[in-house]
Amino acid sequence: MDKIIIDGPCRLSGEVTISGAKNAAVAILPATLLVNGKCHLENVPDISDIRATIKILKSLGSKVEYITRNELIIDNSNITTVEAPYDLTCKFRASYYLLGALISRFGKAQISLPGGCNLGARPIDQHIKAFEKLGATVEVKRGNVYASTKNKLSAGNIFFDVVSVGATINAILAATLVPGTTTIENCAKEPHVVDVANFLNSMGANIKGAGTDVIKVTGVEALKQSSSYAVIPDQIEAGTFMVAAAITKGNILIKNCIPKHMEPITAKLQEAGAEVTEFEDTIRVSMNDTPRPINIKTMAYPGFPTDMQPQICTLIAISKGTGMIIESIWESRFQYTDELIKMGADITAHGRTAMIKGVDTLYGCPVASHDLRAGAAMILAGLVAHGRTEVYNVHHIERGYENIVDKFKKLGAKIEFVRDNGRDENV
Ligand code: EPZ
Repeated sequence: MDKIIIDGPCRLSGEVTISGAKNAAVAILPATLLVNGKCHLENVPDISDIRATIKILKSLGSKVEYITRNELIIDNSNITTVEAPYDLTCKFRASYYLLGALISRFGKAQISLPGGCNLGARPIDQHIKAFEKLGATVEVKRGNVYASTKNKLSAGNIFFDVVSVGATINAILAATLVPGTTTIENCAKEPHVVDVANFLNSMGANIKGAGTDVIKVTGVEALKQSSSYAVIPDQIEAGTFMVAAAITKGNILIKNCIPKHMEPITAKLQEAGAEVTEFEDTIRVSMNDTPRPINIKTMAYPGFPTDMQPQICTLIAISKGTGMIIESIWESRFQYTDELIKMGADITAHGRTAMIKGVDTLYGCPVASHDLRAGAAMILAGLVAHGRTEVYNVHHIERGYENIVDKFKKLGAKIEFVRDNGRDENV
C-alpha cells in the first residue's frame, strides 16, 4: 500500500509556496461549461481531484490542453453529451457542480448521486431546491440525479435553509445564463464562492454580492472567452502550513496566500502563542514555546473552517493544558482522533465534541488517513512525534495537496512518499 513515512521530531523552517485552491478549482472547471468557447486558467492545483474533474469534462466533449502543470485551456465549444459517466462522478463529491453548469447552458444534466463520505451524511437537498426554484425538474432515481426543464429556466428567489458552499455555487452556476435577476439568500461566503463569481464575471456574467449573505445573478445571454483567470491560493493548504510552523516550533514564510482569508486561523494560532506576521500575499508563522490550549468551534466563513479542524486538533494535542473542539458543520469528523490516540494523544471525542488534553510527547506508529484533512493532520502529528510514523490511505491526501511531501521536505522534514511498487515519489 502507498504510504508516507515521517521520521520525527523536526523543527521546520524556510519558505513554502501555496498552490491554487482545490475547492475553487473543482467549481471553476465545471463552470467553464457555461462558455461556448475557450477558457484559460492559471494556478490550477495539480491534485487528483482536478485530474478527476478533467476526466469528467473530457467525457462530455471538452478539449483540455495543458500549457504547464498548473495552467490549462479548456475548450467547451463541442460538448457532445450532458450525461456524466456514473463511474467517474459517483466517488467525486464536487461533480454536483456539473448539474448547475449543464442545466444552465443546455437545460438538462445527469450525474450520479454524489455519495456520502467519511465526514458523515452529505445531502444535496439545497442544490435541488435551487434548481427547482429556477423551474427545473429534478429526479433522483437509481443512484442518478436527472435535472431538466421543459421550457427555459426562469429567474427566481432562492432562500437556503442551511448555509451551503456547494448549493450557493450551484445556484450561481444555474442562474448565470437565465434571463432576469435571481436572488439567492442565506449564501455561503467562503473565498471559493467569491472566486467562482469573479471567474464568471470575468467572462461577462453579472453576479453581485458574492461574499455576502445575498447574491444577485442577472442572467446574460452568453459568456465570452476570457484572456486568462488565476485561481485563488488555497486557504486550507496555507492554514495547514501555518499549523505546521507552530506545531514544530518552527519558522515558515508562507508565500502566495491571501492573509485576509487566513484570519480565523491566524487568530487561533496567536491565541495558542504563535507569532503571525502578515504581508501583502505572504504570512510568516513562528513559535518558540509549547502551544497554549485553545477552544474551537467550526463555522461557515468567516468562522473557523471545518477543513482545518483535524490539523488544529493535532496542535492542541501537544499543548500545555486542555482544549475543546465543537464541530458544527459535519456530523462525523472526529474519526481520525483514534489515530492520534494511537500516537499517544489524550482525546475524548463524542458526537460533535472533542476534549483534548495536551500531552508532552506523541510517538510515531502506523496510522491511516480517514479523509483528506485527517491525512494532513497525520502528517503534522508525524512531524512532532518521536520515531517513525507511517501514514496510509494517502490517496485521500493526494486529492487536495499538491506536492505535499516535497514541500515539507524543503522545510527540513524527514519525509518520504513510498509507492507500493517501492518507487519513492512526491505526492
Ligand atoms: C464544501 O463542501 C467543501 N467541498 C468541503 O471541503 C467543506 O468541508 C465544506 O464545504 C464546508 O466548508 C468543496 O468545496 C468541494 P456544504 P460542501 O454544502 O459544499 C449541509 C475538503 O476537505 N447541507 O457547505 O459539500 C451539510 O450536510 C472538503 O476540502 C445540507 O443540509 O459542504 C453540511 O452540514 C470536505 N443540504 C452543511 O450543509 C445540502 O443540500 C455545509 O455543507 C447541502 C449541504
